[in-house]
Amino acid sequence: AVAADHKQSRLAFEMVKANTLDTVTVPKGYSWQVVASWGDPLWSKAPSLDTSTGGTGESQEMAFGDHNDGMALFRHNGKTILAVNNEYTNYNTLLANREGGIPTTSDDIRKSKAAHGVSVVEVSQTEGKWHIVKDSKYNRRITAETEMSITGPARGHKLMQTAADPKGEVAKGTWNNCGNGQTPWGTYLTCEENFNGYFSSSDKDYKVSPELSRYGVNVKDSGYRWAMADDRFDLVKTPNEPNRFGYIVEIDPTDPNSMPKKRTALGRFKHENAEVTVAANGHVVVYLGDDERGEFLYRFVSEGKYTVGGDHSELLAKGTLFVAKFHENHKGEWLPLTPETTSMTEAEIAIHTRLAASKVGATTMDRPEWVAANPNKVEAYCCLTNNKNRGLKTNAGGDATPPTGPNPRVKNNFGQIVRWKPTNEDHTSNAFDWDLFLLAGNPAVYDDANAGSSNINQDNMFNSPDGLKFDSKGLLWIQTDGNYSNKEGFAGQGNNQMLVADTETGEIRRFLVGPKECEITGSAWSADKKTMFISVQHPGEKGNSNWPDGGNSAPRSSVIAISRDDGSVIG
Ligand code: FEO
Ligand code: CA
Ligand code: CA
Ligand code: CA
Repeated sequence: AVAADHKQSRLAFEMVKANTLDTVTVPKGYSWQVVASWGDPLWSKAPSLDTSTGGTGESQEMAFGDHNDGMALFRHNGKTILAVNNEYTNYNTLLANREGGIPTTSDDIRKSKAAHGVSVVEVSQTEGKWHIVKDSKYNRRITAETEMSITGPARGHKLMQTAADPKGEVAKGTWNNCGNGQTPWGTYLTCEENFNGYFSSSDKDYKVSPELSRYGVNVKDSGYRWAMADDRFDLVKTPNEPNRFGYIVEIDPTDPNSMPKKRTALGRFKHENAEVTVAANGHVVVYLGDDERGEFLYRFVSEGKYTVGGDHSELLAKGTLFVAKFHENHKGEWLPLTPETTSMTEAEIAIHTRLAASKVGATTMDRPEWVAANPNKVEAYCCLTNNKNRGLKTNAGGDATPPTGPNPRVKNNFGQIVRWKPTNEDHTSNAFDWDLFLLAGNPAVYDDANAGSSNINQDNMFNSPDGLKFDSKGLLWIQTDGNYSNKEGFAGQGNNQMLVADTETGEIRRFLVGPKECEITGSAWSADKKTMFISVQHPGEKGNSNWPDGGNSAPRSSVIAISRDDGSVIG
């Protein structure tokens, strides 16, 4: 029976077994190679990475950033341009374990800021191997210091004004860029997630406002210590600076001199990705997750319409933001966030989006990560990665989080994927039907709800779905960022991994397992679909990996390329 299933399956590869190896494992007949790693120079004037120091601020500004995450490929004038997020950094490797991973000089902070942001690099394939094209005119580093235009309702608002930018129109930099999006008009969207962890206060008695507290801003940062060398990150000195982060940023990857645009109309929260689709009526719909326990799932609908070759500069500047409410009867609705529904101004909705969503009664979710819209069908999926507090604690802003709708499990350690089908096959419709495509779990250990849904078995099980994307054939690629202990409830699940699902049959197969202590995230395909690019992020985040260079080398987050040995398409 297994052989027969194998023949009929659209997932025509032999499933990779869960493992805890310190390498990448792909199915028989497939190969992988490293394309770009943290510290790779983008220009020939830049030095190679000095692994004994982790380089300098100056070398990092000319090199591929750290902890690569979401990505997209662009074809332009016959060239292939890869735009990839550099979400964050690990001081134990960035600072080469100096002072126990604690920055001590202003150059450490300069290097840290430059390790964040976005790397835009031309890539090319020579004798079958993909590599960075050094000195390409498209190569660009966008970092925590790159100037960006603030667009949309928050532009110029008093909450956006600082001494350095009294008009509130130009923010400096982007960081904690997690998932991404790609528009049909050829731009890259990078998504600011845990922006809060970079701010701190030199006055420990400083009273953080409830609005900033809702976003996790605190007198203590999460260890980055940027305030040590830059007053922008000291809440006492620059109290409005955190309001200028937590947005979607639009970048033209074909023009390295262009100023990135912060799109405040798409709301401020801990953005995961930005899944862009054009509805049948021409409006641009962007689905957006807020990755925090008990926060929400959002949808933006543009005021203008997309036309091939038209002017797209305002499409993401004007529109309406909606938040999802899921009912128990498998119906759901998108609730508009407007001055009428929230008693807030448009600018306040853009800046304090979480508070606006709480006012309309949105459904608290189990950490919405990536959303993926099916290119061949009007439906979308979102990874709800896990929520250890579900049913036990309120979220940071005080909304209760009882198990409800697509978040059915108390103390949800495994995560699930919710699917919705907009009414009338229209992504701008305000009503939808929903179901759970899968509940992750461990059927080897549990026989209750923690075993997962019927399409999860001992061979394909995993936890904490995060990255999510459809390929052109309509197969759904699922990437994990979860518990890799391989013990207790997670026994038999191995390292973080990537699986493929046939959403019509519900079949799921494991396609790849990453090295130790990494997460697998981000994806893109070459124009000929013969190469799939993904991110291997934070290998050895607890010090137990030497991937990809081996020996005693420091681990390095990297983009890898996967291809089939027979040269046929993948995805
Ligand atoms: Fe950066 Fe929610 O993952
Ligand atoms: Ca990540
Ligand atoms: Ca993620
Ligand atoms: Ca995650």
